[in-house]
Amino acid sequence: MSHEEFPTDRPAVVTCGLPYANGDLHIGHLRGYTAADAVNRSLKKLGQQSAYVCGSDMHGTPIAVGAAQRGISPEEFAMPFHEKYEETFPEFNVEFDNYGRTNDATNTEITREFVEKLEDAGYVYEDEILVAWDPEEGQPLPDRYVEGTCPYCGEQARGDECDEGCGRHLEPGEIEDPVSTLTGNPAEYREREHKYFAVSELADYLSEFLDRVEGTSNARNQPREWIEEGLQDWCITRDMDWGIDYPGEEELVLYVWVDAPIEYVSSTKQYSERVGADEYDWEAVWGRDGGDGGEIVHVIGRDIIQHHTIFWPAMLHATGHAEPRAVCATGFVTIDGKGLSTSRNRAIWAEEYLDEGFHPDLLRYYLTTMGGFQQDLDFTWERFQERVNGELVGTVGNFVYRSMLFAARNFDGTPDAEVSDEVRERIDDAVEQFERAVTEYDVRNAGDAAVELAQFGNEYIQQHEPWQLEDGSAEQAAVIRDCLQVATAVAVLLEPICPEKAETVWAQLGIDADVHAAETEAVHTEPGAFDEPDELFEKIEDDRVDELDAALEEKIAEATTDDDETDDETEDTDMDESDLEPLIDERIDFDTFESLDIRVGRIESAEGVEGADKLVRLEVDIGVETRQIVAGLKQLHDVDDLVGEKVIVLANLEKAELFGVESNGMVLAAGDQADLLTTKEGAEPGTKVL
Ligand code: 2FM
Ligand code: ZN
Repeated sequence: MSHEEFPTDRPAVVTCGLPYANGDLHIGHLRGYTAADAVNRSLKKLGQQSAYVCGSDMHGTPIAVGAAQRGISPEEFAMPFHEKYEETFPEFNVEFDNYGRTNDATNTEITREFVEKLEDAGYVYEDEILVAWDPEEGQPLPDRYVEGTCPYCGEQARGDECDEGCGRHLEPGEIEDPVSTLTGNPAEYREREHKYFAVSELADYLSEFLDRVEGTSNARNQPREWIEEGLQDWCITRDMDWGIDYPGEEELVLYVWVDAPIEYVSSTKQYSERVGADEYDWEAVWGRDGGDGGEIVHVIGRDIIQHHTIFWPAMLHATGHAEPRAVCATGFVTIDGKGLSTSRNRAIWAEEYLDEGFHPDLLRYYLTTMGGFQQDLDFTWERFQERVNGELVGTVGNFVYRSMLFAARNFDGTPDAEVSDEVRERIDDAVEQFERAVTEYDVRNAGDAAVELAQFGNEYIQQHEPWQLEDGSAEQAAVIRDCLQVATAVAVLLEPICPEKAETVWAQLGIDADVHAAETEAVHTEPGAFDEPDELFEKIEDDRVDELDAALEEKIAEATTDDDETDDETEDTDMDESDLEPLIDERIDFDTFESLDIRVGRIESAEGVEGADKLVRLEVDIGVETRQIVAGLKQLHDVDDLVGEKVIVLANLEKAELFGVESNGMVLAAGDQADLLTTKEGAEPGTKVL
């Protein structure tokens, strides 16, 4: 791993969290896979050698419970989903270089090797622990076989994960008031021998790793908090039949979270074996050749940050592998402002989307550019229509089509003329914006570089009015030549997000080269001769959106009234109405509201408050003056990144003293993740919020 600028001379690998093979794919899944696919394609555009690998997560109780519910074996249950995923991902242009599965021979072998290395390095010990047990069934209750109360936040939780509360990983025996999901009976605790990985011994290493790792700030801040609280060792075995056998133990299998991330390694091995180590060397990527390793970039959902920033780097480090360069954690997807719920059918299923006849690149565009990478992303058909009709149809499609149509009619394609300096420079600026964004794994901004360039193209053609110039003249040829170069460049920069549409543009421009393999300098490729083009994107009409909304509402209503429809909720990231705080009935009058002095502010400086885990001391410019405000943002935001952010401040809150520091106002933020409120347009510090 290095922190050199991309492209480096080491190979990169981009991964995305493995889907459990236990249900159909929906847009919640697709957000991560399309983002990671775009990251991989973007790195390649920079000239970085990179592979994108993944695989199905076949083990663990998510699979075992689903299989038991249907009375079939875990393998019979999981394999059809795995095969379905292999078909579905390419339908969304998610192009893995290798897609494996955690129960194949490669992963079984590499997992055993990891465990043996952990043992040899002295990181594994045995302990007698209390595990949940169903007295009626006479069996242990690992992970999802048990539910209860999270000991950290008091919310309802699964055996190994506080999925509805604080999001922590829970160790066997930690859950309070355990109830068996098999019988609904209260569970007992019984003593069993298990294997532990001494993660706590690696706390110092992990702290340093977190200071180095790139990616999103949420993937650094949350784990820092866990380390500060004191790391617990990690139970790496389970009392189950389904899983990779613990070497030398008959009754224990490895915890699913051991063999799952190792599939990242196994999948690159399979890729290397297919293309040859000269072309892609998996041992070099993972530092198995004694070197520093390649550029390992993990894209994950924010619910599995702990696994990728604590357990996984600890496993890699303890076994002598290279560490990840970046961990990028996306927010969740909501539908119409509510949590996605597979059991309530509040989901847009991958197949359902395609059956509606929409092009996959439209959804890719929405999912990768709609919001910040780590923010939750709300899907509504209306907003989908807005983005498609606005940016894709109105800006990109419109520019490409009108330029090419004019060129085809008047010059049979690309006129013989030089590209102007102005246009060449504008294209180079777009490339720079794209490259900067990719360096920060910011696919949204990389997409903006393409769309803004198309917008420039629209303004350029409008300003130069080639239709007013003499047909076939040198002046007209010059304008059209410029426009076609912009179209060529837009396709290159949009390719990571809309790969198939980019391919269409290059084909229509008569460019006989592969836009997927093209690097950023290909923005200057000369287009050729061509006929009249087809429109690139199709407008979505209002009545279509009404139909889609009605269909969505209907299917949610059907699922809610039909109990038989409920399936497992393994992939849910619900935030239902029931999870939201109830509305306050008591109303306030307008005068009371007006008495709140709420202002736009800009953070001028930010630093942690000494001795406090969570507090940050901010200097906030609120136009009329600069205020010192203390806010609980330390673990949820990168403190340095706060500087320059526009925020909303309650200015006339009474002063308070926190850890000996005066706080003169309050910075407003939403929810447990302290999502900072800000302005959308250019409101200056001091502007009143009404
Ligand atoms: O949370 C999940 O859906 C897991 N199947 C992700 C595994 S990612 C990795 F570590 F393999
Ligand atoms: Zn919790």
